[in-house]
Amino acid sequence: MKLKARGPSPFSFSPLESFLRFLMASTEAPTRDLDDLLCSSPHQEQNGESNTSPTEAGGIDDGSASPALCLSGASRIERAWEHWTKLGGPKRIVAPMVDNSELPFRMLCRKYGAEAAYTPMLHSRIFTESEKYRNEEFTTCKEDRPLFVQFCANDPDILLEAARRVEPYCDYVDINLGCPQRIARRGYYGAFLMDNLPLVKSLVEKLSSSLNVPVSCKIRLFPKIEDTLNYARMLEEAGCSLVAVHGRTRDEKDQKKIRADWAAIRAVKTALKIPVLANGNIRHLQDVESCLKETGCDGVLSADSLLDNPALFAGFRNAEWVVESNEGHRDGELDQTDIFIDYLKMCEKYPVPWRMIRSHTHKMLGDWFKNHPQVREELNAQSTLSFEYLYEMVDKLRAFGKRIPLYVMNSSVVEVDENGIKIAA
Ligand SMILES: Cc1cc2nc3c(=O)[nH]c(=O)nc-3n(C[C@H](O)[C@H](O)[C@H](O)COP(=O)(O)O)c2cc1C
Repeated sequence: MKLKARGPSPFSFSPLESFLRFLMASTEAPTRDLDDLLCSSPHQEQNGESNTSPTEAGGIDDGSASPALCLSGASRIERAWEHWTKLGGPKRIVAPMVDNSELPFRMLCRKYGAEAAYTPMLHSRIFTESEKYRNEEFTTCKEDRPLFVQFCANDPDILLEAARRVEPYCDYVDINLGCPQRIARRGYYGAFLMDNLPLVKSLVEKLSSSLNVPVSCKIRLFPKIEDTLNYARMLEEAGCSLVAVHGRTRDEKDQKKIRADWAAIRAVKTALKIPVLANGNIRHLQDVESCLKETGCDGVLSADSLLDNPALFAGFRNAEWVVESNEGHRDGELDQTDIFIDYLKMCEKYPVPWRMIRSHTHKMLGDWFKNHPQVREELNAQSTLSFEYLYEMVDKLRAFGKRIPLYVMNSSVVEVDENGIKIAA
């Protein structure tokens, strides 16, 4: 099936809606707590900032995939590996992040070494019901592959209906079984389905027996390792072709303070026959290597650290992790503002709601704003943003004269690839 390449379409609001959005436009930094961030949907969106035209870059069809063949367990495992190998066995993967792993960010990370990416979590029911939601929250392009499209769900038929709309444009349809936030408890999805494994089984079985693309699941740990292993085995038997394991339990919400349990991830990898990905505590490229070694997994996902440093997978690290490490590092001759400019260019090419751009601006330029808080305050005071404003803001920051470089290990060789991108190997 061919992608419908549609340009940005104007997105108009009624005068009343425009007025309400104007009233709601935030003058604060994006201080939404992770609860809202992880599990928000446009229906819950409070920011109201919408001075961009969302695009349906991927073009969504009405979906009518023919059911996949029902294969025996052994053939399914074989097929899972064939698929993974055909995708090139990606190891460095952008994790799903609501409002943050949107198309321009995925493309930015791909430019800097990511080999695959997840979309943000999409709400399966809203996805089936609202064209506006689909157009705003799911955009893609032909270079945006391999791609996992993630849904939260608690109804197999609705999930299938949503999945059928995206399967022509992705390599996996992923089920979010890991969201631990209050809103997921209220909506009964994510990690709260760990209390209802027969329902989880029926979600996986429904998709895996009906879709042409494989099904993957992103899970958290149970407090007891045996429960986690039984859970993972159940997913595999139900037809799941790949499992990503976030090495924390549902109650371990503070990922900055609580280290992911790589030993538990290793146990899952050992127990399963399908590809397994590790998630948690990937802050720089050396973590990628250690994690692959310690867990035996087939790839890793990174979330939070990529937001600060989208060039993480290309071997660059920010000052925070240089201070922590014993190895020698040098200036990688790449600055956070360089990467931010790349991101803005991606956003011009692949339009997304301004709330996402605003959020990335704060993350990517966080170190700059620490040094120049007045520039952050000016940014916060803008109820609407424009590319012109953001490019000028970068010029202003650079004019202060002090660079904030990303670093590479002394032993790294920085090469410029055929696209002019620096890679620290
Ligand atoms: C801003 C943000 C949004 C997130 N949204 C999702 C999501 O939509 N779906 C999901 O499965 N996990 C989501 N997560 C969790 C991450 O995918 C990941 O599992 C978690 O952050 C641990 O990885 P890390 O230690 O590399 O940050 C989100 C995390 C962050 C920081």
